[in-house]
Parts: sequence; C-alpha cells; structure tokens
Amino acid sequence: MLEARLDRAAPLLRHLARHPSLEDSGWAALLDATTVQETSLFRAPEQLAALEAALPPLVLAARAAGRPLALLSAGCATGEEAFTLAAIAQHAAQAHAPGAEVRVLGLDICRTALEGAEAGEIGPHLGRPLAGVPAHYLPWFQGADGAPRLHPSLRACLGFRRASLTALPEDLGCFDVVLCRNVLIYMTESAKQAVLSGLARYMRPGALLGLGPTDTAGAPFLPFAPGLYRHG
Ligand SMILES: C[S@@+](CC[C@H](N)C(=O)[O-])C[C@H]1O[C@@H](n2cnc3c(N)ncnc32)[C@H](O)[C@@H]1O
Repeated sequence: MLEARLDRAAPLLRHLARHPSLEDSGWAALLDATTVQETSLFRAPEQLAALEAALPPLVLAARAAGRPLALLSAGCATGEEAFTLAAIAQHAAQAHAPGAEVRVLGLDICRTALEGAEAGEIGPHLGRPLAGVPAHYLPWFQGADGAPRLHPSLRACLGFRRASLTALPEDLGCFDVVLCRNVLIYMTESAKQAVLSGLARYMRPGALLGLGPTDTAGAPFLPFAPGLYRHG
C-alpha cells in the first residue's frame, strides 16, 4: 500500500509550489494521493455509545439557547463519520429535545474524499457499508429497497468543507461535539498539540471531544469516558 502511495506521489513532487498551500494544485494533488481515507459508519461503537449517552443535556441546552446542536467531524474522509454523528444527534434530538436543530460539519484536506461525502454516498468502497450500524439506526441509512441511502433529514443537516486542521478557518463556528479520530496518528507530537489547541478554540465549555484509540488530550480537556474528553 505504501509503495502504491509513493508511486502516485513521485510524479507530483516535481510540480509543487515552494510553500505548502491547500490552494496550490500541486500540493492538493499530493494530498489527494497520499492521505489515508479508511473509515466506516459507526466506527468504534463503544465510544459512540458513550457519546450517545452524553448527548441529552447538550441537545437540551442547545434548544434552550435557540441554537442548533453543532457537531464537527475533523478529518471526515468520505463522510461516514459525519453521517454517523448526524444520525446519533438527530436520534437524541427526537428522543430528548423534539424540535431541536442539528448541524454537522465534516472537514478534510482531501478533495476526492470530500466529493464522495458531499454526494452523500455511503461507503461505495466498502463491501458491506451497513454491517456495523446498530439495528435501531438502520432507518437513517437505508432506502425502502434496503440499499444504503442517507435519510433526507440527515442530508439536510450535513455540510462539508475543505480545510486543514493545522490552519483552521476563523469562521468555522462553535461546536458542542468534535470527533478527531484516526487523524492525529499521522502527525508529529507538536502538530498534534497544535491541532488540539486549535480545535479547543472552536468548542463551547462542556463540549465533548472524541479521539482515536492511540491519542490522548491534556488541558483544557478533561477525561470524560473512554476515548472522550470534556472541554473544561
Ligand atoms: C483515516 S481517515 C479517518 C476518518 C475518520 N475520522 C474515521 O476515524 O473514520 C483520516 C482523514 O484525515 C484527513 N486528514 C489528514 N490530515 C489532515 C489535516 N491536516 N487536515 C484535515 N484533514 C486531514 C485525511 O485526508 C483522511 O481523510
């Protein structure tokens, strides 16, 4: 797999602008060719169950404040993590705070991954994309014919954006939940810390952060549940 990635990257290196930039076509092509897009619906289900259990007070607070419950999939790849967040949040809103609005943003640097996410395609690259979906969530991800399809209310609350976690845009918004899973693993220690500090700036006090299995977060985050942190 590494060999294939290097083969794709080698011819692109000749056309790079001197300074890395998302807007430069050479750098964009290199990022498309070398980033790893492995993802699935309901990845790490125990962590997501803990998140689901923690959502009621967050969605009630959002509704009481007259604002949407805002969730971010930071490093969303082809969108399955953002789709999962949307289903969990809509489910919590229906059960605990009817009428509450949900907004989910997926952010990534890879153009081809974002194209699939924006199209709302569920795991076209996965053999059985619904295999890990808990039974009570299947209606959010299946058409009447049983084929994988996003429920229209999920599509309506999802948005995607191309940006780097190392240079987050000023107008990103303010989030109640952020998942940044299986992304920091590719970064140096100092880049990881910079990304976590950057994300903290866009999180409300009490917001939840979910990390991948090999990552940990320090201040201003406090351990909340396995793989989950609370913005203190
Ligand atoms: C292995 S996927 C993880 C997808 C999803 N978070 C999950 O856990 O299933 C990593 C994603 O992070 C993205 N990524 C890597 N570095 C990034 C950065 N600096 N800014 C934004 N996205 C990044 C890659 O393009 C890729 O789509």
